[in-house]
Amino acid sequence: MKTSAIEVRDLAYRYPDGTLALDGISLRVAPGERVALLGPNGAGKSTLIGHLNGILPAQQGQVLIGGQAITPATLVQARQTVGVVFQDPDNMLFMTHLADDVAFGPRNQGCGEEEVGRRVARALDHVGLRDQAAKPGLHLSFGQKKRAALAAVLAMAPRVLVLDEPTSNLDPRAKRAMIELLAGLDATLIVATHDMDLAWTLCGRALVLDGGRLMADGPAGVIMIDDALMHRHGLEVPHLALHRSAGQVVPQDSEYPHRHPPGHVSRIPGREAVSPQSRVPAQRLAGGDGEDLA
Ligand SMILES: Nc1ncnc2c1ncn2[C@@H]1O[C@H](COP(=O)(O)OP(=O)(O)O)[C@@H](O)[C@H]1O
Ligand SMILES: [Mg+2]
Repeated sequence: MKTSAIEVRDLAYRYPDGTLALDGISLRVAPGERVALLGPNGAGKSTLIGHLNGILPAQQGQVLIGGQAITPATLVQARQTVGVVFQDPDNMLFMTHLADDVAFGPRNQGCGEEEVGRRVARALDHVGLRDQAAKPGLHLSFGQKKRAALAAVLAMAPRVLVLDEPTSNLDPRAKRAMIELLAGLDATLIVATHDMDLAWTLCGRALVLDGGRLMADGPAGVIMIDDALMHRHGLEVPHLALHRSAGQVVPQDSEYPHRHPPGHVSRIPGREAVSPQSRVPAQRLAGGDGEDLA
């Protein structure tokens, strides 16, 4: 069998206050798949994401990246392979110039300044923020910040891209821009989202998480139109899919004709050249310093 990009085996996690956030999760994601991680608030989506590059250590079970279990010894490698874009972009933007926020990861990976410059330019181009490079990231609009946080991760050339609520709090135009951006990437994608249209447009597969358990896993075109299943887990059938049940068959991609066939998608800049030390964005999941495994 082909090695999974990510495999999660019987993963469980309990926060220090006793909350059982993940309760025996197992799944495999193949290279090139685009997977929507769906579920109501508190389902465990962000906690699961925190495990995918080892920011949260597995208390029970395992996470494997490209067939290799995340352990203290493989953590750096795991973080080079799996790039996580957290929900709150302010966690990733703290420098005087946006370009330095985006350069942070590649510098930590040991890239020379010339390569860093190339990666920063490409990543900012990619998200349409090259003209904002000299601004402090914190002065950007919220939509720009979300794209800037994505650029900071793209600059590290991850093979697997994991995004936590990439369209939360965005206006419709900024949402569309984000969806189009993500649709143009060729990374393996795992996207936790409440944005059903995003999930429907972007993802071929959907996972439904509730109460820390995986309740459904299958083709998005099947799971996401299962009204009873979706409602049972606090979700709704995407508007784009409703056109279909009204008799107007709307193929899953029709709103986004720009979506390129495999082989024609844009490449994540500089994916080939990666070396030690990946960026560990400050984040709140662990309720600590976010470096539990290091
Ligand atoms: N730092 C924390 N300490 C204690 N409980 C937490 C913490 N973070 C999340 N939780 C709890 O873990 C469960 C899963 O949360 P989370 O992974 O954030 O869900 P989701 O991202 O699906 O909304 C919820 O019950 C939440 O209240
Ligand atoms: Mg969350």
